[in-house]
Amino acid sequence: MALVAGVDSSTQSCKVVVRDADTGALVRQGRAAHPTGTEVHPSAWWEALQTAIADAGGLDDVAAVSVAAQQHGMVTLDEAGEVVRPALLWNDTRSAPAAADLTAELGGPDQWAEAIGSVPVASLTVTKLRWLAANEPESAARTAAVCLPHDWLTWKLAGGTSLDALTTDRSDASGTGYWSPSTEDYRPDLLELALGKVVAVPRVVGPADLVGGRFGAGAGDNAAAALGVQAQPGDVVVSIGTSGTAFARWPNPVADGTGIVNGFADAEGGHLPLVCTLNASRVLTSTSSVLGVDLADLSDLALSAPAGADGLVLVPYLEGERTPNKPDSTGALHGMRLDTMTPAHLARAAVEGLLCSLADAIDALRALGMPVTRVLLIGGGARMPAVRQLAPAIFGCPVVVPAPSEYVADGAARQAAWAAGGADTPPHWSELASTSVEADPTPWVRDRYAAARDLTVNR
Ligand code: XUL
Repeated sequence: MALVAGVDSSTQSCKVVVRDADTGALVRQGRAAHPTGTEVHPSAWWEALQTAIADAGGLDDVAAVSVAAQQHGMVTLDEAGEVVRPALLWNDTRSAPAAADLTAELGGPDQWAEAIGSVPVASLTVTKLRWLAANEPESAARTAAVCLPHDWLTWKLAGGTSLDALTTDRSDASGTGYWSPSTEDYRPDLLELALGKVVAVPRVVGPADLVGGRFGAGAGDNAAAALGVQAQPGDVVVSIGTSGTAFARWPNPVADGTGIVNGFADAEGGHLPLVCTLNASRVLTSTSSVLGVDLADLSDLALSAPAGADGLVLVPYLEGERTPNKPDSTGALHGMRLDTMTPAHLARAAVEGLLCSLADAIDALRALGMPVTRVLLIGGGARMPAVRQLAPAIFGCPVVVPAPSEYVADGAARQAAWAAGGADTPPHWSELASTSVEADPTPWVRDRYAAARDLTVNR
């Protein structure tokens, strides 16, 4: 039995799975925590990866390993390959003014969407580089190469020391802001626009290529999740993790000048239009801590309140928001009355607010012509019964919840099996056990949410 491994170096932790390359059966797994915060030294990811590998029984017996990781994080390296400063993560919003400046400098949002498939927001690497050039000129001057979390970890695992040995894949390159998913080329002019100079960037390898004989191309975490759940045309994947994402596999590049949909590439040679929110599973954990209950009780409380929480609406912008682009906004609670100031109403409003913001994301994909036959609901938040039960009513379509698994790491492992096996397409692993959920739509819940959401200002 040949074994393969997949890694998910995510915002909050590192997960490693070891699977049978032919069947996908789980053989072993391990994990380790990451530090909190939106600025993290990459060495912390490396240490967590070593711990997670040891926890998974080591990787000496695996044929290939692929690393998937949080997208967009800015890892800067000097000439000697040393990290220049801690990485700024996808959810660090300090580069929001830089995003606005860059957008204007290229002529507006449409120009960016045409150039690189996305309109700059604080998450994109290109805006972080502009922030670096403007705020830390000494660090910018020392920077000889820029790469992403999965690029850096793959390079370290493969024993890379020279900047020439850095590699990335299409899915993660498409989230930088200086690589075009339609021409499949870097845009050094945009890198220079942001940083004031051109630096080394990783070579983009094919989805099933092996690097250093044993390492897959790797991927951004959302593209890896699409591989992990074996998403089919007509499926929209909604992931409720630290970020909330809605995405679909799509044959053509997408250029959405509204900036709502990011036209990313996928990890199979196609595309992955994606909407990302900053506020997802932590809306649930923070509400549970406000109420002094655990997540199971939060779920029971939410289900004990009526649909629409008698008019109590939570706009969940607890970290500002990326979609819509309101990085300096705050969350808000509307409709407070004596009869709605109960734990059950607040729990319901939190679950509904989170789901309504994701329903907006699904609608944005629909608006670009993507069919939504069913939603595949994954991520930590999908484990909450109230989320699963209310999702089809708020999304207005059938929802399938695959059995809990580390889908990002699983997708990386499937990519490793693909690369090791040399076939034209990724291996088909056994169908996932899943639960289907249907419910009558509750459009009035979304209407009330939309009214409250539209009152939110970016200050
Ligand atoms: C996607 C995005 C997040 C991160 C963290 O654009 O920023 O989903 O990849 O998971």
